[in-house]
Amino acid sequence: MSFFHRLFEKFPDSKAMFSRVNVDDMQSPEFGGHMLRVLNGLDLFINLLGEDSALDSQIEHLNRQHLNYDGMKASYLWGMLDILTNSLPTVLDDYDALSFKNCLVEVFNDYTKGLP
Ligand code: HEM
Repeated sequence: MSFFHRLFEKFPDSKAMFSRVNVDDMQSPEFGGHMLRVLNGLDLFINLLGEDSALDSQIEHLNRQHLNYDGMKASYLWGMLDILTNSLPTVLDDYDALSFKNCLVEVFNDYTKGLP
């Protein structure tokens, strides 16, 4: 099951936020494009770990965008982090769960700033 299916199971209210990207058909190219943008955003966070100023700019950029989405809540992002960190071991070899979790929690502390 995709991470967005899991997100909507956990937070049904969040689904309506994705109407612009055709969430009613999660196989659609529009929703596929959206999922790619999210995964690229996550990939960038991970690849910028250790490059402090570039990482800070990227987090600030995505934070600002998410502050503008109607209905956005910090708990949705923490929920997504939980779902993703449970899935990463299935796609990465030699996954160090504790290191990933510790680094990404730091990232998400900034990513969720200002969200209710
Ligand atoms: C790992 C977590 C996440 C990352 C890295 C991420 C990243 C992104 C990126 C890169 C975009 C595209 C921005 C653009 O148009 O340039 C986006 C859009 C968006 N994200 Fe997130 N996101 C995450 C989680 C979430 C969650 C949990 C929610 C809400 C439940 C959310 C709500 C939205 C909305 C509403 C959009 C706009 C969709 C549209 O184009 O209409 N995001 N996100």
